[in-house]
Amino acid sequence: MRHLISPLDFSVEELSDLLDLANDIEKNPETYAHKCEGKKLATLFYEPSTRTRLSFEAAMHNLGGNVIGFATADSSSAAKGESVSDTIRIVSCYADICAMRHPKEGAATVASLKSGIPVINAGDGGHQHPTQTLTDLLTIRSLKGRLDHITIGLCGDLKFGRTVHSLINALVRYEDVKFVLISPPELRVPDYIREEVLKGFDFEEVTDLEQAMPKLDILYMTRVQKERFFNEDDYIRMKDCYILDKAKMSLAKEDMLVLHPLPRVNEISVEVDDDPRAAYFKQVQYGVYVRMALILRLLELA
Ligand code: NCD
Repeated sequence: MRHLISPLDFSVEELSDLLDLANDIEKNPETYAHKCEGKKLATLFYEPSTRTRLSFEAAMHNLGGNVIGFATADSSSAAKGESVSDTIRIVSCYADICAMRHPKEGAATVASLKSGIPVINAGDGGHQHPTQTLTDLLTIRSLKGRLDHITIGLCGDLKFGRTVHSLINALVRYEDVKFVLISPPELRVPDYIREEVLKGFDFEEVTDLEQAMPKLDILYMTRVQKERFFNEDDYIRMKDCYILDKAKMSLAKEDMLVLHPLPRVNEISVEVDDDPRAAYFKQVQYGVYVRMALILRLLELA
């Protein structure tokens, strides 16, 4: 039985096959419309989510399957003190596969050790968010045609942003990917990313978004992760550190793509939404296709 806890749980070849499957689902949705009939997905969300939970639910419905679950920790037995290990043993009796989001780093790993069904990590604290990474990879590959030979700028909260950590982990495996890490000094990527994951790869850390713009093929904007700050004053000081607007977009390549895992707060001005390079709403749609592909693969139905 396979789980998806980190983007590295799939080899580059397996990932490529998964993205191919997602592209095929996009083209031929009717072929897949009944593949999960009689199957249940459990969505165990101990932390708020709109896109991730709903996109998992939409994905399972699109495959003809059913969904059970909870959307907040206080509506589950976690509020009574039940452990993740116990909850997953119970859920294994009710469902065929589960997606779990939890505020604690490592929660999905803990669940996978006791689970009788495949566990998908839908975000564990500030650590990883592999299905957002699958979404990002599918978006880049579909719209740019490749995952190698790109310069990607990651901008905003690189310290707490789990989508950034997962995406860097995934992209170092492709040839000639250059990373431009754009953040205030306080929100730099964690040391383990710089010293272990990015060691030996082409990366630079800068604070100025304007200066970085002209060289980027992809700009990955992120929200300052309010819920992970220890101190409200620090959040307020840093929350609007980068705001992408039309003026900054005018410095970018004509075919640069702007991605954002969403939700956006202020970091992308709405005036950018109509720019053909804004790919963040398309990215949401790709998120459904890739989750469909993932469910099929983990259930060994495709
Ligand atoms: C992200 C997350 O939860 O980490 N959202 C998402 O799943 N698309 C990004 C964020 O919350 O900023």
